[in-house]
Amino acid sequence: MLETLNAQPADALLALIKLHNADPRPTKIDLGVGVYRTGEGDTPVFGAIKAAERVLLETQDSKAYLGPEGDMGFVHALIPYVFGTEFDRSRVEGMQAPGGTGAVRLAVEVAARAGAKRILMGTPSWPNHAQIVAAAGLELKTFKHMTDEGTADLEALRGVLAEAAPGDVVLLHGCCHNPTGVDYTPAQWDEIAPMVAAAGVLPLIDLAYQGLGDGMEEDAYGLRKVLAAVPEALVAYSCDKNFGLYRDRVGAFYAVTGDAQALAHAMANGATIARASWSMPPDHGAAAVRLILGDAALTAQWIDELTAMRARMAEVRERLAAAQQIGPINMAPLGLQKGLFSMLPLSGEQIMALRERHGVYMAGSGRVNIAGLTTGNLESFISALRDVAA
Ligand code: LMR
Repeated sequence: MLETLNAQPADALLALIKLHNADPRPTKIDLGVGVYRTGEGDTPVFGAIKAAERVLLETQDSKAYLGPEGDMGFVHALIPYVFGTEFDRSRVEGMQAPGGTGAVRLAVEVAARAGAKRILMGTPSWPNHAQIVAAAGLELKTFKHMTDEGTADLEALRGVLAEAAPGDVVLLHGCCHNPTGVDYTPAQWDEIAPMVAAAGVLPLIDLAYQGLGDGMEEDAYGLRKVLAAVPEALVAYSCDKNFGLYRDRVGAFYAVTGDAQALAHAMANGATIARASWSMPPDHGAAAVRLILGDAALTAQWIDELTAMRARMAEVRERLAAAQQIGPINMAPLGLQKGLFSMLPLSGEQIMALRERHGVYMAGSGRVNIAGLTTGNLESFISALRDVAA
């Protein structure tokens, strides 16, 4: 039977990790998968996480199963950060998920069980979004995320919402758009919220980079604005980036509705999907986050660490923008974009030339992880870019 299987292409982004690791050049630059790096090129464990892990080591008295919903202390501790301290707690419930991917998968599968037929999604988007939608058997309808001028394309969203049909879900990136770094502005969110409500579609908001854009509160602006306008919504959340827990796979799926029975049913369906998929999410990282959020000193330490990350990324963006023009590439917008990613308008040949001639690894889409640019390699990256793009 197994001989009937077809070959599958490797996931392009994950394959890049291996290609970069195998490159012996000491000057190689990894701008591929989205992990934060310090100015020295490291991805250290947050000090607040280390401290929480020490507490966990000393105090955790059992590793017995928790259940498909995972650590509900963790799930609930995030609620004020995501939804705001004023949010009506009776409208939201959640469950832990293995990373942002697990959270998106739960959200899409629950939507499908609720009768969703189609996901409306701005492109380009995180490639895994489309894969998850396909795996859940839903249709994908795309629209332009970005205008030719490099701003978020509100009119494209307006257009797709105007034609939305019953059973449509609109997938929106809460902040730090992956891969473009181009977010809707607060003024655009003010327009989006009533537009989504009027279209009667179910919003699914993916918030995977909260705190990496403008700040924890600022990065939740759009999500909160939409949630204030609509009767129901789904949220996929990731702590992989803002707590640096990547490989520990820490995420959460939330449903929002004023209908208590629908809320309970959304969770019950999420639980059965989780049970059939991974049974229970991994505990360790979520427990560490719960400990941090339950301790004022650790919370302050985490926020300081997150603030330092953001400041470093802003500095890199400033230096990239200062390069102004590299061949036909206008670098100025990179200074205004948010989060880990931006896209450079490079051809496949130029991306390969960067890799082969200069050891610069970036996604085939031209997406760069700007945190991969360090004090040591930023100038060489700009020279490499001049070499291939000029
Ligand atoms: C990325 O886009 O690089 C990250 O979200 C990691 C991933 O899982 O793709």
